[in-house]
Amino acid sequence: MSPPSLLLLLLFLTPLEGGSNEAQDDNLLVLTVAMKETEGFKRFQRSAQVFNYNLKVLGLGEEWNDRDDKRAGGGQKIRLLKSALEAYADKEDLVILFTESYDVIFASGPGEVLKKFRQAKSKVVFSSETLIYPDRRLEAKYPPVQEGKRFLGSGGFIGYAPYLSKLVARWQGLDSDSDQLFYTKVFLDPEQRGTINITLDHRCRIFQNLNGALDEVALKFENGQVRVRNLAFDTLPVVIHGNGPTKLQLNYLGNYIPRSWTFETGCTVCNESLKNLTGLKEDSLPLTVIGVFIEQPTPFLDQFFRRLQLLRYPKKKIHLFIHNREKHHLSQVGSFVNKHRPEYRSLKVIGPEDHLKNADAHNMSVNLCRQNPACEYYFSLDAEVVLKNPDTLQILMERNKFVIAPLVSRMGKLWSNFWGALSAEGYYARSEDYVDIVQRRRIGLWNVPYISSVYLIKGSVLRSQLAHLDLFHSGKLDADMALCRNIREQGVFMFLTNQQQFGHILSLENYQTSHLHNDLWQIFSNPEDWKEKYIHPNYTAALKGKLVETPCPDVYWFPIFTDTACDELVEEMEHFGGWSKGDNTDHRILGGYENVPTIDIHMNQINFEHEWYRFLLHYIAPITEKLYPGYYTQTQFELAFVVRYKPDEQPSLMPHHDASTFTINIALNRVGIDYEGGGCRFLRYNCSIRAPRKGWTLLHPGRLTHYHEGLPTTKGTRYIAVSFLDP
Ligand SMILES: *[C@@H]1O[C@H](CO)[C@@H](O)[C@H](O)[C@H]1NC(C)=O
Ligand SMILES: *[C@@H]1O[C@H](CO)[C@@H](O)[C@H](O)[C@H]1NC(C)=O
Ligand SMILES: *[C@@H]1O[C@H](CO)[C@@H](O)[C@H](O)[C@H]1NC(C)=O
Ligand SMILES: *[C@@H]1O[C@H](CO)[C@@H](O)[C@H](O)[C@H]1NC(C)=O
Ligand SMILES: *[C@@H]1O[C@H](CO)[C@@H](O)[C@H](O)[C@H]1NC(C)=O
Ligand SMILES: *[C@@H]1O[C@H](CO)[C@@H](O)[C@H](O)[C@H]1NC(C)=O
Repeated sequence: MSPPSLLLLLLFLTPLEGGSNEAQDDNLLVLTVAMKETEGFKRFQRSAQVFNYNLKVLGLGEEWNDRDDKRAGGGQKIRLLKSALEAYADKEDLVILFTESYDVIFASGPGEVLKKFRQAKSKVVFSSETLIYPDRRLEAKYPPVQEGKRFLGSGGFIGYAPYLSKLVARWQGLDSDSDQLFYTKVFLDPEQRGTINITLDHRCRIFQNLNGALDEVALKFENGQVRVRNLAFDTLPVVIHGNGPTKLQLNYLGNYIPRSWTFETGCTVCNESLKNLTGLKEDSLPLTVIGVFIEQPTPFLDQFFRRLQLLRYPKKKIHLFIHNREKHHLSQVGSFVNKHRPEYRSLKVIGPEDHLKNADAHNMSVNLCRQNPACEYYFSLDAEVVLKNPDTLQILMERNKFVIAPLVSRMGKLWSNFWGALSAEGYYARSEDYVDIVQRRRIGLWNVPYISSVYLIKGSVLRSQLAHLDLFHSGKLDADMALCRNIREQGVFMFLTNQQQFGHILSLENYQTSHLHNDLWQIFSNPEDWKEKYIHPNYTAALKGKLVETPCPDVYWFPIFTDTACDELVEEMEHFGGWSKGDNTDHRILGGYENVPTIDIHMNQINFEHEWYRFLLHYIAPITEKLYPGYYTQTQFELAFVVRYKPDEQPSLMPHHDASTFTINIALNRVGIDYEGGGCRFLRYNCSIRAPRKGWTLLHPGRLTHYHEGLPTTKGTRYIAVSFLDP
């Protein structure tokens, strides 16, 4: 008899039991069979420790006497259990919980288990299943139930020791026989069911098998604790089993239980398996193979190599492998290699001429670690990853996992290098927590089904569980998906950490390779990276009003471009080469009417006008509004061009007004080094700027007051970038 009101009351009386301070209950012993200490087993063991279970593991180190199908059979488990129970057969008060371990976690402690077991008023309680197996024909023999699941599951059961002994006493099968079938037959025999006094945990009060039950199960967060709740029966099961095809769902739940959680700071037991490298001398740090992959045209490759150099890890401990599939990047790769080859322990480059496929290049690279017994880690890094954290390698190593990736995502987007879940077809599916993890609202170490772009694998696992695999091939899958599927199928966990900030992923869409310096065109696709490369580091200070100079009345002077921006713009113009005098002669007004032509190339001649406009809008407009309060500009521009001054071509520019409200004039090279002379003079104020600074811009009114001239360049070549701005 179980009146619903009583059950409800019991639920209320079952508080969420917390972490590890529950006293061990000597009346409960947990038995499990595990031949190998897989990561799944260690997770189980850890959850048993957290709740202070008394755990005994049977069969460690034994061979798995199975049929071809690895997981079928299970008779071996009964044999081991039977022999272990001999020692306990007369212990009437002892309760034994038998469970699988590779794909099981505890969600609460022994006190709760014992209480629920006693409430079941049977000597033996088996977990229940939605689906019947292995023999569907037995369905009719199952006793009917009023509520809950009807079928027996052999993955978890609990009972008094003498009764469990009776249960397995008749076992005489082979190691390869089915344990599930054996227990099912005992249960379906009314006589044995009665004498051994067996019931099923129909409503998942103790055992939750996930197979066929995913819709019933939800995580429940409360007071910094988390439980799995069975929504169908309103119960809080204790032993959670990811049986059948639900292993990934168990990995997902295992990210939250048995840990304690607070959303602000993430999990509190994340540091469980830290390795400490901080104390180590440089030459005792682990030997690592780093594989770098440039598989398609990729912007900002020079910065990529600079960050690679800046990784805080001794180069003499790194074998570097670079696969570059793009002709376009040959010179960048070449100059990196020429400059830095001697610093690394070794450096191998596979270029576009080798015509190696992505997967084969990865295979070659990972083999450099696998086949070198001294190699402790393999670090794979795609060129579109902007790894801003120079400690990434060491941080990942310290996490002490077989396979681990740092979270990187597209700036401001949800696109990232991991998946939280898989679809039935094995492709991307969004997990409930995906967005929170990408945006770092939940922080921790996450067991996930797919990682890519940047990850670390232990050499030891490459030489054991993953040894005989063609890791990057699987059916028609891409190399990254093949890798993850192969790793999953070996039962090796893949982790993602977002405990630190690591960096982001570039957008490769819209990257053209038709220019000399293609990164200049990336202001739309990768604005942050564009800024880092091209905008002067002190621009931000200038925007706050610092560092802005006023060399002449109403003429402002501040840093805007990096040297690289100046150099690339000049080189791009010289590469284009269409310098013209007189084509665009309507932009300077002499005495109000006449034209003042210059030797110049306009931004639109190199198809740069949209990018230039974006630059003006994002970087010039805000500072203009700051310096001339009350003035608002959309930085509409009529004209934007680069001017070249040379003594024998056009050394200077006669006094004129600009046909603009404002003018910016950016010096693109260095006086005294690239040229002599030059500068700008404002006639009304008899004020000259004779030593323009490279990368700094002048900002001055165009019409009326600021009648000005370009002073003669006496030697070399001077370049300036000029734009006329109107509201
Ligand atoms: C188990 O024993 C209890 C009494 O101890 C009895 O009420 C119950 O019906 C028995 N269950 C089965 C399945 O025989
Ligand atoms: C690891 O976490 C425990 C709490 O679970 C804490 O007491 C300990 O200080 C942590 N250790 C480190 C190195 O962060
Ligand atoms: C790691 O080792 C260093 C030096 O040996 C020590 O100072 C530091 O506290 C250790 N860190 C952890 C997390 O144990
Ligand atoms: C990958 O590397 C292994 C060596 O470990 C080799 O046997 C295999 O043929 C390679 N696969 C491909 C597709 O090249
Ligand atoms: C930025 O400004 C500071 C302070 O004036 C100066 O010391 C530093 O050299 C500047 N940085 C660059 C890259 O010019
Ligand atoms: C302009 O200034 C220079 C010195 O900077 C001075 O020699 C010259 O006389 C001035 N010219 C006028 C017209 O004031």
